[in-house]
Amino acid sequence: MPSAPATRTVAVPNDLEAFWIPFTPNRAFKAAPRLIARAKDMHYYTPDGRAVLDGTAGMWCTNAGHNRDPIVAAIKAQAEELDYAPAFQFSHPKAFELASRLAALAPADLDHVFFCNSGSEAVDTALKIALAYHNVRGEAARTRLIGRERGYHGVGFGGISVGGIVANRKLFGSLLAGVDHLPTTYNREQQAFSKGEPDWGAHLADELERIVTLHDASTIAAVIVEPMAGSTGVIPAPKGYLQRLRAICDKHGILLIFDEVITGFGRLGHAFAAERYGVIPDMITFAKGVTSGTVPMAGTIVRKGVYDAFMRGPEHVVELFHGYTYSAHPLACAAGLATLDLYRDEQVFERARKLEPVWADAAMSLKGLPNVLDIRCVGITAGIDLASRPGAVGKRAYDAMVHAFNTENVVVRATGDTLALTPPLIVSEREIGEIFSKVAAVIKAVA
Ligand SMILES: Cc1ncc(COP(=O)(O)O)c(C=O)c1O
Repeated sequence: MPSAPATRTVAVPNDLEAFWIPFTPNRAFKAAPRLIARAKDMHYYTPDGRAVLDGTAGMWCTNAGHNRDPIVAAIKAQAEELDYAPAFQFSHPKAFELASRLAALAPADLDHVFFCNSGSEAVDTALKIALAYHNVRGEAARTRLIGRERGYHGVGFGGISVGGIVANRKLFGSLLAGVDHLPTTYNREQQAFSKGEPDWGAHLADELERIVTLHDASTIAAVIVEPMAGSTGVIPAPKGYLQRLRAICDKHGILLIFDEVITGFGRLGHAFAAERYGVIPDMITFAKGVTSGTVPMAGTIVRKGVYDAFMRGPEHVVELFHGYTYSAHPLACAAGLATLDLYRDEQVFERARKLEPVWADAAMSLKGLPNVLDIRCVGITAGIDLASRPGAVGKRAYDAMVHAFNTENVVVRATGDTLALTPPLIVSEREIGEIFSKVAAVIKAVA
């Protein structure tokens, strides 16, 4: 049984109407809500005290597990000491401390950190820095941004423009001008049931050459990709793909941005996926795991040369007209520092690396269950594609998510007809077994 506080009930709101819930079918939810009142380590607790295993680390963010004592204590202490300091023209010591710690974790000369509050802001920040970087260096014609089909880069106008998930784009007008997309790296025929990075697909990076031929390199500012496409349903990069993308970007003077909002902080067994693949991007966006989901925080880490390009002109003049009221918020910085300490002290990233084969075997054990069309996994993530119900795309995975929470007491994520599993990185081997046996029962229940 989970080591949890004794069962207690928590009052539920008596009216669910006012809250417009994001990325959620509001009417269905309000008719049968799934409420979570408390959490500890690997478990959530419903208002009536039912323990539910967290198979998704919140939303890919609570990598250290829930309500960890050192992080909670750091947030409390910070709230008592400094609630807020202006983010522009003033700052506070922990902002510098956290930036230095992140720079030390990031590979090579990625050593300057611009703080934001969400992954979406980190992406927009990276895209703006890319445009401005070329501009200040006298290459103002480099305005084109290249994303990838099925990519998810948050919900800002920049992020949905370079993103490649149609439902997130189709209602929102013409988006940013001058954006192009690489093809998705997923091909079921070639890759089905691959463990880790599939063997097939590195050549898809060469599509960037085609895009360069079409537009000319002198018009292209940056390419942005997720090292593992998460939100679309866990698509690991094919072997050699990211290296090839880096080489083509180098050849043409194009900046390469890795969106590591999900892959950062141990999800793929390293501080950043860039390290796993031995590829040095020009910018890394991060969020989620930096505070283990406790306080909103995100940021963009840039290479020294990118930062240095802006450090010119009169010294009293702002170098980059960009930032947020809550950039490097004191509570978030305190949470971030305590989280990085915990990751280090408990060797959380190394642990994830060691568990990866156990996790992959457990994920693949679902092969052969009804409607399972493909299983993908890399690091401590798994995506399970289910056959759609006739005429109702997304319904089978949605039913699975509801059944998992209500009956099997496990949280899974549904995206289209894919189930995504990404537990906190403190998950034990026993809990890995528990997650997959619960998910097996769910898959059978929605057959
Ligand atoms: C790769 C990636 N980028 C950006 C985002 C957006 O982050 P947020 O929801 O914090 O804005 C996400 C969210 O899941 C993501 O997975």
